[in-house]
Amino acid sequence: CAPSLVDSHGRTISYLRISVTDRCDLRCRYCMSEQMTFLPRAAVLSLEEIALIAERFIARGIRKIRLTGGEPLVRRDVEQLVHRLGRHVGHGLDELTMTTNGNRLAEHAGALVDAGMRRINVSLDTRDPDLFRYITRHGDVARVIGGIFAARDAGLRVKINMVALKGQNDGEIASMLGWCRDEGLDLTVIETMPLGAIDEDRVDRFMPLTAVMDDLRASFPLVRDTHNSGGPARYWRIDGTDTRLGLISPLTGNFCSTCNRVRLTTEGVLYTCLGHDDQVDLKTILRTDGISGLDAALDSAMRTKPVAHDFDIAASAPAVFRHMSVTGG
Ligand code: GTP
Ligand code: 5AD
Ligand code: SF4
Repeated sequence: CAPSLVDSHGRTISYLRISVTDRCDLRCRYCMSEQMTFLPRAAVLSLEEIALIAERFIARGIRKIRLTGGEPLVRRDVEQLVHRLGRHVGHGLDELTMTTNGNRLAEHAGALVDAGMRRINVSLDTRDPDLFRYITRHGDVARVIGGIFAARDAGLRVKINMVALKGQNDGEIASMLGWCRDEGLDLTVIETMPLGAIDEDRVDRFMPLTAVMDDLRASFPLVRDTHNSGGPARYWRIDGTDTRLGLISPLTGNFCSTCNRVRLTTEGVLYTCLGHDDQVDLKTILRTDGISGLDAALDSAMRTKPVAHDFDIAASAPAVFRHMSVTGG
């Protein structure tokens, strides 16, 4: 049995995030610029190549795979990949899941459940139709909420991801949590992170979650929850309910010391940290040496994984120039 992946800081890597496309059918302002250049299709890993790399990771001890984007559901035939990787759940993998913008979820929810998915994270920064259209530049909130309900009704546990944006949705976090409680959903609130050039100044939008938490405690009976999703969130629960509140605060509450994650891009590049450029080109290795070349590359990636990100929301340039959509967060 192949050795598990342990980095040079002693962290075991058990969570692989795979960006299956850099494309997206929305253009969230904190994520993308209005004019984005996307990868030519030839540069992109085929679904078969993604599966081969993912399966090598599973053999090396990866227990959780999350498909992201861009928007994963805009990749044609992505369900084939879900189906193939879904066969490993219970046989090496504990979980196969996805983060989506929800725009096409109503059409896909049933197939995701059939392929073995049990849980899904959906981005929803506001329920206000005008603000939603403003933040996403193209989105229709009723359509996304329809997708969320379709996923829930198909049997998926749905977690809403809400990026806290000062002056935009910061007055709405408590009502979002109340709505999640009433609708049987979980909520995770996220601090905005400086990745890639966008058309606005991030510092104007940054909301520390310490302040958000003070607000939420005043409105809800929140108790710490030991639940561990294997991701970066710390959890609370609304007492007397099943609704979990997660907080992801890379800026005000660094969680890098327990990082268990690496990310594979659409182009087959492995990034060992969201906030750094350290990378290994697995696509070229796979295409020249085949699967047998991957193990040495994964071992060398483990030696270069940085100890922590150094995001600084006030810096004049983003910490890294690639967009979040390249690595899916
Ligand atoms: P769960 O499996 O439900 O815990 O999901 P997750 O939080 O791992 O995944 P999701 O795709 O929902 O990501 C939520 C947010 O966490 C996104 O904004 C990601 O960019 C961010 N995130 C995930 N991993 C990391 C990380 O290692 N570092 C930082 N800074 N942010 C991360
Ligand atoms: N900072 C924080 N979260 C972000 N996301 C996208 N861009 C950023 C950013 N700059 C979120 C999306 C999605 C998740 C994968 O990451 O809203 O829910
Ligand atoms: Fe698309 Fe997600 Fe970026 Fe919004 S945050 S533009 S939904 S990739």
